[in-house]
Amino acid sequence: MIEFLPRPNFLTEEHVKLTKPHAILILDFGSQYTYLISKCLRELGFFTKTVPAHQSLLPADITVCGIILSGGPDSVSEQDALSLPGWVTEFNIPTLGICYGMQLIANHFGGRFESGKNREFGASQIYWQQKHLPYITISDSWSKQFWMSHSDHLSHIPKGFEVSATSENNVIAAIHHTQKQIIGLQFHPEVEHSKSGKELLYSFAHQMCKLTPSEYFESLTEQIIQSIKTNIGNQGKVLMAVSGGVDSTVSAVLLTKAIGKQRVSCVMIDHGMMRIGEIEQVKQYFSELGVALEVLDRRSVFFERLHHISNPEQKRKIIGQCFIDCFEEWANASNKDSSYSHLGQGTLYSDVIESAGDGCGSQTIKSHHNVGGLPEKLQLSLIEPLRQLFKDEVRKLGKQLGISSELLNRHPFPGPGLGIRLIGKITPEKIEILQRADEIFIRRLRDANLYHKVWQAGAILLPVKSVGVMGDQRTYEWTCVLRAVNATDAMTASVTQFPEHFLPDTAVQIVNAVPGINRVLYDLTSKPPATIEWE
Ligand code: XMP
Repeated sequence: MIEFLPRPNFLTEEHVKLTKPHAILILDFGSQYTYLISKCLRELGFFTKTVPAHQSLLPADITVCGIILSGGPDSVSEQDALSLPGWVTEFNIPTLGICYGMQLIANHFGGRFESGKNREFGASQIYWQQKHLPYITISDSWSKQFWMSHSDHLSHIPKGFEVSATSENNVIAAIHHTQKQIIGLQFHPEVEHSKSGKELLYSFAHQMCKLTPSEYFESLTEQIIQSIKTNIGNQGKVLMAVSGGVDSTVSAVLLTKAIGKQRVSCVMIDHGMMRIGEIEQVKQYFSELGVALEVLDRRSVFFERLHHISNPEQKRKIIGQCFIDCFEEWANASNKDSSYSHLGQGTLYSDVIESAGDGCGSQTIKSHHNVGGLPEKLQLSLIEPLRQLFKDEVRKLGKQLGISSELLNRHPFPGPGLGIRLIGKITPEKIEILQRADEIFIRRLRDANLYHKVWQAGAILLPVKSVGVMGDQRTYEWTCVLRAVNATDAMTASVTQFPEHFLPDTAVQIVNAVPGINRVLYDLTSKPPATIEWE
């Protein structure tokens, strides 16, 4: 018999009053694939939250209906390996351990391992021993191919568990507890090469965790609004940092809905590294939304501080600091009677992952200006209503809020703007060259009806000069790169393939119209191995 204990009441009374998303909690033990687990589940319509493995408590902002323990680079036999937090097995919440996560579970219940022998990397055939695990059904239609990546393997099954599957190399590939709702998988269902991995994750979420797909999305707006209200309280005031992009606009609308327009001031900083016409365009969008927007001209501050800086991470840190200084200066100056308590930002989950801002053990790819680029000390508390969502989810949310599709489907544009697309030292003159090339590229995409077929496009200016010939004259000018990619959440991206004449014709227009550029290249690299932005 399986015990179905009532869900633990681990939430405070105040939290219980709110509607919290029913979610799967992912504990990150440092695997490169952790974000794929959440991405896969979200695509299936389930809400997830990822926290570092050393998290000491169940998070209070979601109702945890299931727990997934990710893989990781450690080995359970190592002394300083990450361990299983005690609370994971305390509440009888359905739990799925993947690779290292499975080994932690097995170790906890007294299993034994062998190291180094029977290592498996890559595709492997998995043979299920039973059609029905106590809580989920293994379908005949599932592919047997799953992806393995392990050195250690289970040699002695822990007490209370049975083997559910073995691999073609006779390694124990899956185990389940006969009484408690716990499954362990030696393979990775979250990677694309595990052909029926999605089905397996779906069964865990639906059959074991009793979640209904898409259910979370319908109530998401209300949940975010409630959580903003709790966070800000009755008195707090928010200075909302607006960039003109989808994320900060959706955040601004959610904040005004939650606490009223009087308590939210939307401020945009003109740092001089925007696209041509950007400020006017964003003013127009905000006036259509009926939300007041103040634009601060801080071009000279940014250019002064970035003078002589060419290291990309240094640029990001300076830009992050500069943003905060400008916002705090504005908040202090305009706050005679009541003070601002919070700084609102449109930070997304993907920004957090790549900046390793939640300390989940993944590598810092870049210091996103909203996350790793922020100074250590802030006078204002941060409020980031979208911090748990990916871009495609934010667009859906924006649609529910009635934001125009023109605004929602704008290409993403980084907060540090052309500052990170201008490689090397930043000068106002070079920014102007880049702005003009970028404007031609984007205009041509729109004219050719290609703008909305691309996830993101833009121009980059390299600090490389080369020889050309124009009107019988030798030229020695800069190199411009065009970048266009297709993606769904910016964690991976493929290169956009354009109709035959589009790129050569664009290159001709740029070189003819922009003094300072005599050569145009197109970036053919996907993400990974490259990132979308150059910097
Ligand atoms: P990468 O270059 O990491 O970019 O592949 C992924 C997505 O994030 C955007 N990006 C940023 N957006 N502030 C932002 O608001 C930043 O500092 C930043 N850095 C990258 C990038 O344009 C792409 O859509």
